[in-house]
Order: sequence, then C-alpha cells, then structure tokens
Amino acid sequence: MTDLPLAPTLPPDLDTPALVIDLDVVERNARRVASAVSERGIKLRPHVKTHKSVALAKLQMEHGATGITVGTLGEAEVMADGGLTDVFLAYPVWAEGPKVARLRALAERPDLLFAVGTDSLAGVAQLARAMSGSSARLRVLIEVDPHYGRTGAAPDVAAEIGRAAESAGFELLGLFSHGGHAYAGGDSIARAARDELEALAIGEEALVAAGMAAPVLSAGSSPTALGVLAAPVTEVRPGTYLIGDAMQVALGATPPDGVAIAIAATVVSTAVDGQVVINAGAKSLTKDMAPYMKGYGVIPAYPDGVIERVSDYHGQVRFPPGAPRPALGEVVAVVPNHACPTIDLYDSFVATRSGSVVGRWPVDARGRSG
Ligand SMILES: Cc1ncc(COP(=O)(O)O)c(C=O)c1O
Repeated sequence: MTDLPLAPTLPPDLDTPALVIDLDVVERNARRVASAVSERGIKLRPHVKTHKSVALAKLQMEHGATGITVGTLGEAEVMADGGLTDVFLAYPVWAEGPKVARLRALAERPDLLFAVGTDSLAGVAQLARAMSGSSARLRVLIEVDPHYGRTGAAPDVAAEIGRAAESAGFELLGLFSHGGHAYAGGDSIARAARDELEALAIGEEALVAAGMAAPVLSAGSSPTALGVLAAPVTEVRPGTYLIGDAMQVALGATPPDGVAIAIAATVVSTAVDGQVVINAGAKSLTKDMAPYMKGYGVIPAYPDGVIERVSDYHGQVRFPPGAPRPALGEVVAVVPNHACPTIDLYDSFVATRSGSVVGRWPVDARGRSG
C-alpha cells in the first residue's frame, strides 16, 4: 500500500478551504466500474451517500446505473425529490416517531420504486407496524452479515426473516451484504469479497429451500465491487469509487489518477519550525484516518508533508528537514482520506474539468443523516 493519490488540478482564485470535484475524473470512474459490472451481466446500484448530489446521481444513471442506494430516509427524500426513481435504502430502518410518516410517504410515492433493508424479526415487525393501513406494499431486502460484524443477520437465518416479511405482506426482493472489512488493509479486499459471495449464497439457499425467491442478491463496497462480479450476485453497490480518496488509493481500490476530489487549502502559518499550517482542519478534512494512513489527508504536490494534527480550522503539516514545502499564502490541493464524510462538510462543491470551473453544484443531501 504505497501508491500516492494524484490530485485534480485546482482552478485559480478559490475562496479556501474549498471542495473541488473534477467531473472528467468522475466520468472516467463511472465508466470504468459500470463497464466492468455490465460485462458480467450484473446491475450497478451506486451508493450516493458518498457525494449526496442529485446531479452526480443522475450522471451515474446516465453511465449505466440501474438505480441508486442511499443510507438514510433523508437521502432517499432528497434523491426522490430530485427525480431519481429507483432508490434502495440499504439500512435496517427502525421506523418510529416522525420516521413512520416519512417511510410511508416514500413507499407510497407513485413516481418512486422504493425498497428498504431489515436484518431481524423485530425489524420486520416494526416496519409492519409503521406500514399498517398503508396503501403501499413495502419492498424489502434482508441484510446478511458477511463477517463484517456491523449489521446483518447470520445468512442461515435469512429464511426465517424472509417468511416474516412475506407474512407481513411485504414484497421480499432478496438479500444484501456489505463487506466493510475490506477496508482493514492487507489481503482484506479479497477476503471480504469471498465473504460476501459466501454469505449471499448461503442466504439464497436458505430462502429457496424455504420456498421463497431471491431475485436480488446485492453485494458490495468500493474495494470489493469488482471482486464480487460472480454468481450468485445480481447487483453491486459501490459508492466511493466515483470520487476516489486517499484511502481507496492506499488500498489499491482506485488508481492514483482516479481521485476526483481535492480540498483547496491555503498555508496560513509557517511560524513553527518544521511545519506549515493550512486552513483545512477537522471541519474541512474530517478526523477519519485508517491505521495504514500517515496523516489526515495527502498533499500530492508535497508528498513528504504529513498532516499530523487537525483542530477545527488548522491542519498542522509536519515536514522532515530539507523537504520541499509550500510557502506562506500558497494554495495546496489536499486529497482527503475519506471522501464520504468530507463532502458532507460542504454545502456545495466547485465542479471542474481539467482545472477550469464548470459551476458550483450543491451537496443536496448534506446533513441528512437520519
Ligand atoms: C450498506 C452499504 N452499501 C454500500 C456501501 C458503499 O461502500 P463504499 O463506501 O465502500 O463505496 C456502504 C458504505 O458504507 C454501505 O454501508
């Protein structure tokens, strides 16, 4: 894991810190993954929590996606209002309080094919209470855990949950998994991909043996997306692949030139020996850092600099003696470690092509975390 990301070219005269996304790179990433997926006869349902942008979700649809994935009711609402018509909420929704009306409204929209996740009998019962008396038949997928250990039922329990979902009157579409342990480093990507294939196969077998069908078997994360393009998988849900970030490059899941995102930051202080301070701290870069990353983001133009500490508005970049470093007032491109939470810090982004500004695009579902 030694590759350094390349940063998109920054346009001049930005008011820093600024979120910049290069649409040429975005389109290249969209095409790269969409063509690999469609060649294997599998569907692509990208997770749009990465960018939370209606325009980028539509771009993904134009590049071969057959629907989108979201992580919250709020993201589903924003995307549906923006004109996306096939939305899977890949999350074990617990609908109570205000969420009941929101869930029902989404399920009842005539312009939307909407599905939700669940991973337990109690979750099915709660969804049934929420949907009671509704004119809509809720479409559900059961989450199975591929040894990630976050959410998801044991695959051999899928049939029991499936039966409960059918008894509740839901339309059971199938199963989904997320191999988030792909992010651990080492051989984690291949292992997580194998685990996802196995969990979905066991779950499908259990459903079929109990007389149910599982037309949708949905797998994936960005690192595992290309490793799960085989039976029984029918659909994959990568998100971060579209934008790329320093973690994806470090893992080898995105090529170095597949990074569409940069945070433009200005050097505001060189007062302390051996360091420069940029005006991008935790509120511009997040504090997300995998154990295999050296700092809170990467500055490709100055690869010896390590963003060692971040406070709200300060990023302290440490340099070894003699290493080239940016001057006071210089604007640098920082590739964030993790695109998804970083983008959520901004109301909008500067959309560029090869360093020229194309427009300022809203992060439509920013902050819609529930
Ligand atoms: C359920 C689910 N599906 C898909 C994804 C997309 O994975 P990635 O962030 O690796 O692109 C995620 C990410 O957390 C997820 O939680």
